[in-house]
Amino acid sequence: MKVVVTRRLPDSVEAELAARFDAELNAADSVFGRDRLEEAMRRCDVLAPSVRDGIDAELIAGAGERLRLIANFGAGTDNIDLEAARARGIAVTNTPGVLTEDTADLVMALILIGPRRLGEGERNLRSGRWRGWGPTDQLGRSLTGKALGIIGLGRIGQAVARRARGFGMAVHYHNRRPVPGEDSAYWPDLDPMLAEMDVVSLNAPYGPETHHLIDRRRLGLMRKEAWLINAARGGLVDEEALIEALAAGRIAGAGLDVYPNEPEVDPRLLALPNVVLLPHLGSATLESRTAMGEKVLANIAAFAEGRELPDRVA
Ligand code: 8YV
Repeated sequence: MKVVVTRRLPDSVEAELAARFDAELNAADSVFGRDRLEEAMRRCDVLAPSVRDGIDAELIAGAGERLRLIANFGAGTDNIDLEAARARGIAVTNTPGVLTEDTADLVMALILIGPRRLGEGERNLRSGRWRGWGPTDQLGRSLTGKALGIIGLGRIGQAVARRARGFGMAVHYHNRRPVPGEDSAYWPDLDPMLAEMDVVSLNAPYGPETHHLIDRRRLGLMRKEAWLINAARGGLVDEEALIEALAAGRIAGAGLDVYPNEPEVDPRLLALPNVVLLPHLGSATLESRTAMGEKVLANIAAFAEGRELPDRVA
């Protein structure tokens, strides 16, 4: 069974893929691009893509008869047109549950680095601008007692809530439905929650319904002292409106791990001191990436053996 893997994966995962399947690995770790994806999809049985491979309806329409599974290396599947895959009878799987804690750690790091101005402090020190301790120098804002509003209380949102409670934050959330057993304050409507929060964290999936969920109007509802954290997907936020709000001081700052056109980062963001910018590192630990690879393997193995796919999303 021909399996094409679009990016380099952790060694142990690649070794197992090579041992069990006719796996075409990408030792150079180059990003495939449309032509190479098209070519691979014409002749493989399984494609294992990741977030940088946009598998749209046209690519799916051009896929060969052999292609029966797209085993995405990633929890988010917004890089794949699921409807088009369904229509062609191509199954799609993802890697949920194994990157939850590491991604929540990164969200918490953004919440700490931003309001406490830690990135700014490190930049000052490295550039020789630190003149020694001062009682009113570079004062940030406390997290203890502050309100955190989580948008999307799935696995990662819940893991963020657990951490934030440990930091003494009052946790609120907006979700389509209240989450059973969750004792954070539930807001059925997003707008009133936004107006009350000190920190807002986006942890919702991205898709047509959540495109620009945080737009100019909603940014306008947020408190002047508030921080916006996004480690989910860049498209959840209208970046143009965010840059305006940040530059005009309409919100205090933003902590971002994701961008609408990765790896491009708007130069205006780079110039703003009240923004923390990370390069999509949410699940970037050896543990998470290995576990994600093992999930990809488990889904391919189930497919090869005709069993039910453990993480089927389409
Ligand atoms: C991955 C992610 O790094 O799993 C996801 O949805 O955003 C990240 O953890 C990336 O998407 C892998 O394709």
